[in-house]
Amino acid sequence: MNDTDNNSNNPCLTTILDARLSRRSLLKGSLSTAAAMYLGSSSLLLSASGNANAARNAQKNMRLNFSAVDKSRADKVQLAAGYNYSVLLATGDPLSASVPAYANDGSDDAASFYRRAGDHNDGMQFFGMNRQGAWDKQVSERGLLCINHEAVTAAYLHPHGQTVVDGKRVSDAEVMKEMLAHGVSVAEIRREGNTFKIQRASSYNRRINTFTDMEMAGPAARSPLFITHYSQTGSRTRGTIANCANGHTPWGTYLTCEENWAGYFRRTAADDAKRSEKERVAFKRYGVAGQGRELWATVQPDTADKRFGRWNAAVTGTSNDGSDDYRHVANTFGWVVEIDPFNPNSTPKKRTALGRFAHEGAWPGLVVAGQPLVWYMGCDSRHEYIYKYVSKALWDPNDATRGMLAGDKYLNEGRLYVARFNADGSGDWLELKFGQNGIDENNTAYAFSDQADVLILARLAADAAGATKMDRPEWGAVNPRNGEVYMTLTTNPSRELDKTDAANPRFYNDPKNGMTQKGNANGHIIRWAEQDGKAAASRFQWDVFLFAARASAAPDNVNLSGLTADNDFSSPDGLWFAQSGLLWIETDDHAYTDISNCMLLAAIPGKVGDGKTQTIVNHDGSKERQVTTYVGAATDHDHLRRFLVGPVDCEITGLAESPDGRALFVNIQHPGETTSGQDFSLDTPSSWLSHWPGGGSSRPRSATIVITRDDGGMIGADFI
Ligand code: FEO
Ligand code: CA
Ligand code: CA
Repeated sequence: MNDTDNNSNNPCLTTILDARLSRRSLLKGSLSTAAAMYLGSSSLLLSASGNANAARNAQKNMRLNFSAVDKSRADKVQLAAGYNYSVLLATGDPLSASVPAYANDGSDDAASFYRRAGDHNDGMQFFGMNRQGAWDKQVSERGLLCINHEAVTAAYLHPHGQTVVDGKRVSDAEVMKEMLAHGVSVAEIRREGNTFKIQRASSYNRRINTFTDMEMAGPAARSPLFITHYSQTGSRTRGTIANCANGHTPWGTYLTCEENWAGYFRRTAADDAKRSEKERVAFKRYGVAGQGRELWATVQPDTADKRFGRWNAAVTGTSNDGSDDYRHVANTFGWVVEIDPFNPNSTPKKRTALGRFAHEGAWPGLVVAGQPLVWYMGCDSRHEYIYKYVSKALWDPNDATRGMLAGDKYLNEGRLYVARFNADGSGDWLELKFGQNGIDENNTAYAFSDQADVLILARLAADAAGATKMDRPEWGAVNPRNGEVYMTLTTNPSRELDKTDAANPRFYNDPKNGMTQKGNANGHIIRWAEQDGKAAASRFQWDVFLFAARASAAPDNVNLSGLTADNDFSSPDGLWFAQSGLLWIETDDHAYTDISNCMLLAAIPGKVGDGKTQTIVNHDGSKERQVTTYVGAATDHDHLRRFLVGPVDCEITGLAESPDGRALFVNIQHPGETTSGQDFSLDTPSSWLSHWPGGGSSRPRSATIVITRDDGGMIGADFI
């Protein structure tokens, strides 16, 4: 959950387009004709991609192979009939044969978390491994599972929650445990029977945490804005944080993405007087202010390596360049981080060419020999933007075995773009390049100095370029059949009636337990097709694949996708395509939780332009506003069904599959987390909202589960 907001003066799409296009011309336009121009070459693209499975699958039809699961508020994982799950890796589970089983009562030793699974399992990826210990995308029996650990629920990590006295953390062991429970797990897994098991003694098992040494790579490396006491040259930083969603590369490395990192840093108002005007603008735009969400910087005394004080982003030293404190530390977070899971001693690299923002994830476009490589990215806060990175180097399939060296080739040099969604159903990728699109020293909001400045302050560059403010971009996913890109816009309670636009068209009230929930309370899923089917194109055509809503909501301006009891949902977050072309949708919901816990749905999607142009009327009391948008083809019971409902107060997130499509990995994140906001004197088992997965009076834990079909078949859909 992220409640920050983009308060830049960047105009909403509406402002620009109201001036440019008359409503009459919009209503007359035919979306399908326009979209057809963009889709013509998709089969050609697939045959050139070298992805034999995707090309083969593109010829096949699919049918959902399960009955819909009912909405539920029960404290358990409920799956479609004919499916089963087992818990693969839960918070605190050992990733070493020498670490004892997790006690799960707060007594586990902090240092043991160097070799235990972290908390809040999130984005993940399965990398098949062959007998030589190398990446092989065809191998399903054995693999490395990389799992993000986005955050912690401290209530369940310690005996009685965080010990805080006068606003300060007083137990360094508690803080150590939290710092170690963030980051990434790399775990070897093997198929055993119909499911998978962790190989606790594997030498590939690795924990990356907030202490792991990392290289700042790419165009911004060695920027003066990266200088800290830890790295006087601005070439390194310590750790990764807020690892939300993820991505991967065609050379078998993992991308972990730093999302809500800003809140971890302490920087109180007194620091403003010591900072330049540019620094103050930058801190404000990224939300680096306050006490620090876990108060890590408050531990006294600090250690020689400044493990606590490094979370203080204020000026505390006397140097001019920041080499004696951590005034620049926040600039070394907010990146896409590349990890080689097959080399446990490798140094992760923060790829600065992909820009710095609240990175949800980084999803590769279709990989085509001789074409640039592309990653799509969202910035998860209200009214933030959608980005795309295009490599300078053209893809050479011989690089598929070169690991991080390939990363240096494709991820250190390229172009960064931000999306503008136009009211006529087209879109433009606006380049974030120093000297272009208003991104220069004359920009009034922030005087950019060079390209490193543009990458480090990518949000400000995107403001200058005129990007479209979206309803909180979360996960993206690329359809392996045709290269079309889907992205969840999870919700936006801050969307105002008069700021609705074609791509973020709804303002409505979704009452929950009698309370009003205004704005875009349930979210939607936008999708686009790049011009001529080329991922590196500078233009695209878009529509809205799905509008989330209660099935009972008004069909003419809220439940625009015609959702029914079998498939209604709210707050889409995780989004992921199986190799088959089946689309999975996960929810991180707070709006529809009066009716159901968070869930996982499966969809057989159509394509951009398969629906209709629709003008809706939004209401706020007596005020109303008409907006014209593009609604994907109605998604009926045959094309969208609820597959899983999770336990109480959890989020469903992260998806991975074995390459044969017979095992699906899903994360159940933070069941019962709301307890952590309560007074810990009341914190007894009976007050905990969930006891999943252990049951009884146990503390709830985040966990990765493996889902299989009782008959060992494909998960979710069969080819027909
Ligand atoms: Fe960590 Fe945007 O969810
Ligand atoms: Ca989330
Ligand atoms: Ca998310």
